[in-house]
Amino acid sequence: MILIDGKKVSQTVREEIKKEISEISEQGKHVGLAVIIIGDDPASQVYVRNKINACNETGILSRRYAFPANVSETEIIELIETLNNDNDINGILVQLPLPKHLNKERILSAIDPKKDVDGFSAEQSGKTFLGEEALSGCTPEGIITLLKAYNIKIEGLNAVVIGRSNIVGKPAAILLLKENATVTVCHTRTKDIKLYTKNADLIIVAVGKPKFLTKDMVKDGVIVIDAGINRTEEGKLCGDVDFENVSKKCSYITPVPGGVGPMTVTMLMYNTLKAFKNA
Ligand code: GUN
Repeated sequence: MILIDGKKVSQTVREEIKKEISEISEQGKHVGLAVIIIGDDPASQVYVRNKINACNETGILSRRYAFPANVSETEIIELIETLNNDNDINGILVQLPLPKHLNKERILSAIDPKKDVDGFSAEQSGKTFLGEEALSGCTPEGIITLLKAYNIKIEGLNAVVIGRSNIVGKPAAILLLKENATVTVCHTRTKDIKLYTKNADLIIVAVGKPKFLTKDMVKDGVIVIDAGINRTEEGKLCGDVDFENVSKKCSYITPVPGGVGPMTVTMLMYNTLKAFKNA
């Protein structure tokens, strides 16, 4: 079993990004990311801190805009419109989830698609769907980058994606198709998930349920990518995979933490640099 080291791959990709950014700085230009965080969700605070730290590490200029949970939708949309027209800002990110009174669709669709470094907009996800150059979702893009970093040939694999979220499952399926995998998407209404996972060469799990994928569901030699981040009752981080038992049957597997998570943040830096180059 080979443990896929997301921290190590992240470091390599970040070094490349850092090098490009320093060349840009030498020309007197810079790459900028605006991060908007609303409310005090503890997990979001951690994610945003990681994103800002990654900016500092790679040389991307970051601006953090923090608001209390009771901020008005108008105030957020006005800020986004200002940032859309700010030439120092190449990427705009609104950390999710949002407090309930805010309309996620209205807020996210206010972001100029060219600055949509999360890849959530209709324009960027549409380009991803068409197989065109796009700012694709950071987590699915990170998963493909991890597989390639370990020289795993995706073409021809029976790939099963469990979860159909717009952030992970759906775009992951599209990117795997682009790499010529045969893709099956399972979800909450799938009658017998095991029927599909038992025959899978590659399984991507993004369901948000601790230890969802168990050893009886997989075949020997399977490649498992765990995009889950959950907390156990003791407060420990764990993924969607019963790692201890499933890993014994795997050819490759990602740990949680240290697998997909660091890659998500790294691909955000990658997308921000890409948005700068496109501008
Ligand atoms: N919340 C959980 N994952 C994400 C993500 O990838 N982007 C944003 N903006 N918020 C999130």
